[in-house]
Amino acid sequence: MHIAVVGSGYVGLVAGACFADLGHTVILVDNDEQKLAALKAGQVPIHEKFLPELVQRHRGSRLKYSDDLQEAVRASKAIFIAVGTPPTEQGEADLSYVESVARSISGAIEDYKIVVEKSTVPVYTSDWVRKIMLRNAAPPDCFDVASNPEFLREGTGVTDFLYPDRIVIGADTEPCASVLREIYAPLTDGSYYERPTAVPRPDRAKIPPPLIVTSAKSAELIKHASNAFLAMKISFINAVASVCESVGANIQQVCQGIGTDSRIGNRFLNPGIGYGGSCFPKDLMAFRAVARECGYDFRLLDEVMRINEEQRLRFLRKVRSALWTLRNKRVGVLGLAFKGGTDDIRESPAILLIRSLLQEGCTVAAYDPAAAERARAQLNSNVEFVNSAYEAAADADALLILTEWEEFATLDLDRLHKQLKYPIVIDGRNLYDPELMAARGFTYYSVGRPTAMQENIPDNTSPLKKNTKS
Ligand code: UGA
Repeated sequence: MHIAVVGSGYVGLVAGACFADLGHTVILVDNDEQKLAALKAGQVPIHEKFLPELVQRHRGSRLKYSDDLQEAVRASKAIFIAVGTPPTEQGEADLSYVESVARSISGAIEDYKIVVEKSTVPVYTSDWVRKIMLRNAAPPDCFDVASNPEFLREGTGVTDFLYPDRIVIGADTEPCASVLREIYAPLTDGSYYERPTAVPRPDRAKIPPPLIVTSAKSAELIKHASNAFLAMKISFINAVASVCESVGANIQQVCQGIGTDSRIGNRFLNPGIGYGGSCFPKDLMAFRAVARECGYDFRLLDEVMRINEEQRLRFLRKVRSALWTLRNKRVGVLGLAFKGGTDDIRESPAILLIRSLLQEGCTVAAYDPAAAERARAQLNSNVEFVNSAYEAAADADALLILTEWEEFATLDLDRLHKQLKYPIVIDGRNLYDPELMAARGFTYYSVGRPTAMQENIPDNTSPLKKNTKS
């Protein structure tokens, strides 16, 4: 199948490289000259596992880059729109890039093609794309518009694409559905997984993945509702973690107890400092906005967002209760990315927390294995970017863990202890066992679990209930 993918961001680049790996011929179109030049030179501008290998494998053969949208459309049977849909000031999705692509491709539709929304878009976008294309003289019988939402997580995008829990095809006509079925056939018939070059199978992968065919509108809603539900799960568990802190219970035990109910499940039940990233915050606002426009006031989403913000503020209060005053304190920070495994700092709770700490007069030494470059542009010169967790801890009044990078969970605790001015660790991601931390001489705060500390240090200033351990 000849495929054009418009937009070479996280979704477009991963989808393009994966379609090529399935055996299709892909033209990835972007109008950002710098980005295109980098891609053509073999560079991969984002931190995604397996993406460099796939790009290297198919570049110049099944994966080509171009700035000529019309030519790419003429050469393709399916055109995937994967351009940005950033939030407007009112929180709605800004669909002007989608509209401009729809307008531009209209003139290049000469024989039957399908136009597929891959970006996250509100319900009714497929109707609008069709309308815009008809207004711009695309022949009505020569195209269909479909929705094929992506459920990839940043950092594991390639694996999520090739080993999806499900593939959702929102197509309103049979010819359109059948083109999409053909594109995903190597996954749904299982043949991709038998290839020696297949990207390694992750745990829990369903092989072959189920294919769900729906109307375009249902598919659009499936994407927004999925992200809203996952965000709700995170806010729910963060709220329960706050109750745990008040009563001296342990959220880890509570999660185990509720997550083993198969109707609930244990994934996305990790409490923390709130969700961030380029998807959940934006998609929740857009979903709420589109629901309101359609006449439904989705207040549950307001509460999910409120809890998320409160979770960050609560963490800041925890830092204050551990350090008392913040002015002129030196704080080591582990993690800048919005989650582990990515260099993305968009809507990162870590960045927002660092800004608050700076405002309160702290100096910050921060370390992140991948996101420092991007963070440098966002934070002022009071942040010192260092090259290891131990450097971040050096002479610090406390060490904060803000991103769940694997390497932060396996630190040499004795070395860390020696580096810190005071052995205080405030962990926003629950990476360590409180008892172990106390035994190794730390005062250790985490989320939804009792604070652990050495017996000889009183901590009667903390609003949290204590569980003093030696
Ligand atoms: C999310 C969804 O998980 C994907 O299915 C979806 O395709 C994607 O948005 C999108 O719409 O494009 P992503 O934003 O990459 O993916 O990251 P997640 O792994 O979902 O994490 C989002 C945030 O929630 C992070 O800040 C993470 O630290 C936080 N989180 C996640 C928790 O606090 N607790 C958890 O248990 C899980």
